[in-house]
Amino acid sequence: MTFHILISDPLSEDGIYPLRQAEGMNIVMETNLTPEQLENRIDGFDALLVRSQTQVTRGLIERASNLKIIGRAGVGVDNIDLEAATEKGIIVVNAPDGNTNSAAEHTIAMMMSLARKIPQAFHALRNQNWDRKSYVGVELKNKTLGVVGLGRIGAEVAVRAKGQRMNVIAYDPFLTAEKAEKMGIGYGTIEEVLKAADFITVHTPLLKETHHLIDKQAFEIMKDGVQIINCARGGIIDENALYEAVKSKKVAGAALDVFEQEPMIDFRLLELPEIVATPHLGASTVEAQESVAVDVSMDVVSFLTTGTVRNS
Ligand code: NAD
Ligand code: MLT
Repeated sequence: MTFHILISDPLSEDGIYPLRQAEGMNIVMETNLTPEQLENRIDGFDALLVRSQTQVTRGLIERASNLKIIGRAGVGVDNIDLEAATEKGIIVVNAPDGNTNSAAEHTIAMMMSLARKIPQAFHALRNQNWDRKSYVGVELKNKTLGVVGLGRIGAEVAVRAKGQRMNVIAYDPFLTAEKAEKMGIGYGTIEEVLKAADFITVHTPLLKETHHLIDKQAFEIMKDGVQIINCARGGIIDENALYEAVKSKKVAGAALDVFEQEPMIDFRLLELPEIVATPHLGASTVEAQESVAVDVSMDVVSFLTTGTVRNS
């Protein structure tokens, strides 16, 4: 029996070895398809493997008459219409742990870039401008980091921030006093965290409840001169409200890895010198990409050949 697997986003070649070595897997890699081309191509495939770029819409799922499993090589499944998949009995698997470390490291890198204005200073230097006055930063030591969403990545960020001698305070609906105490961090309501923090980093999934969690009202209760980091999902922070908050100097700076629309088409935020940004690179390390690809490949092989998976 042959199973047909379509990989529609670039995945680590080393990471898909479980698929390559399994018997009866016909692997097709087509990573430049437009949404229309993908809809015309999907029929007949048993499995679809994606990262965050492919939008697995209801329309696509309806055209996939043979599809049994969708593998998301990464954490967020917000690019997959889970309801449509469930209605058709298609199982969705992700790789929740494989890129935790990379995303946490990227968050810390972004926070340090923000605090010391490293990208801005490098940009000036590249333009042959030796300017030591415009790029005075702030130390992280003794500053308070507010972590909104203390799951896998948020918790790793908290541990690393303590290594920078920051005070950490977190909000997560599932955070208990015991866990906070064990981690040596403070905790509070979201309002308390937003009020207390010098730096705020968000690490929630993008859900209906977290869409624009950080909006105009949220900015209003923050400290003047607060700095914000988003390496989770575009849409958790209201970009228009952020733009206004930076313009008014309420927010001294923001470091963004993710955007409401990706690939980005509205570059207005990047016109502000207080913004540093990367194009969704949080999980873009050799290690993370191999790890997430291995995890979903193993799940796809397991499901197609035995009908079971580790997580779904
Ligand atoms: P996780 O599921 O381990 O943690 C998410 C946490 O958010 C949970 O503890 C949950 O209780 C909490 N949460 C849910 N609703 C909340 C709310 N309203 N307020 C506060 N907390 C809330 O997920 P994770 O692996 O830590 O991933 C976190 C985010 O990072 C996700 O959005 C994921 O897609 C994203 N991510 C981005 C990159 C990147 O490349 N930039 C890489 C990996 C993950
Ligand atoms: C994730 O949710 O895992 C990240 O956003 C990384 C990716 O898009 O692959």
